[in-house]
Amino acid sequence: MPVHKSVKKITTHVLNEMKLKGEKIAMLTAYDYSMARILDEAEIDVILVGDSASNVMAGFDTTLPITLDNMIYHAASVVRAVKRALVVVDLPFGTYQGNSKEALASSIRIMKETGASAVKLEGGQQIEESIERILSAGIPVMGHLGLTPQSIHKFGTYVVRAKEEEEARQLMDDAKLLERAGCFAVVLEKIPAKLAEEVTNSIRIPTIGIGAGPKTDGQVLVLHDMLGITQEFSPRFLRRYHNLYSEIKGAVQTYISDVRTFKFPNEKEQY
Ligand code: KIV
Repeated sequence: MPVHKSVKKITTHVLNEMKLKGEKIAMLTAYDYSMARILDEAEIDVILVGDSASNVMAGFDTTLPITLDNMIYHAASVVRAVKRALVVVDLPFGTYQGNSKEALASSIRIMKETGASAVKLEGGQQIEESIERILSAGIPVMGHLGLTPQSIHKFGTYVVRAKEEEEARQLMDDAKLLERAGCFAVVLEKIPAKLAEEVTNSIRIPTIGIGAGPKTDGQVLVLHDMLGITQEFSPRFLRRYHNLYSEIKGAVQTYISDVRTFKFPNEKEQY
């Protein structure tokens, strides 16, 4: 029986076993109770309460403005819905970089106030101390390398990262460092498929790709993108599994028309 079918609850150890057995890990983002419930009942392995909430829930251009309090609100809503999936929460920009004590305090707030199972941080060597301090408190950490959206003002654009040899070598070193430090998995965002494959084969912890080709141990997408709720974001790696934007808009237009033409409510829809 596949590992993910043989367990009632996905843990970081289950993800490791899945990698060992060559079973792919499916991860999606969620930010609220109702969506998280659907994802969990569909048997998604990992739910990421991503700081992409800053874009898709709050309408900001970047992930930078979202606060720790905002993330805690989203994560607690998600956790209330979830029975099976592993829930991982992004530490937002400004709550861990450059200060490992603050990184630990932010992670403790997330764990205490949401009931989530792990945190995710962006970066490699520059946040090593923060990762070690969080891990020393028994909090599992997921890494994130490649295109790290919290550093968008340093990169200047959202183009593919690590195409050049030097950046690719640095990314490989960072992946090994995250493994050594004790991270249980690492997200690889928007890097060449070949490099993602090499990283995946070079570390024992699972890699979860987004725009990183088919050879990572798992895949992640932003829920609102893969459901076609967001319209303007269309990178090559994004597969839209639905066009919910049109479906919802159509339903709302039908409702408006029914209200205006006295079709809603009908005789059965009243007391
Ligand atoms: O915030 C997020 O949604 C993420 C994923 C894109 C990996 O970090």
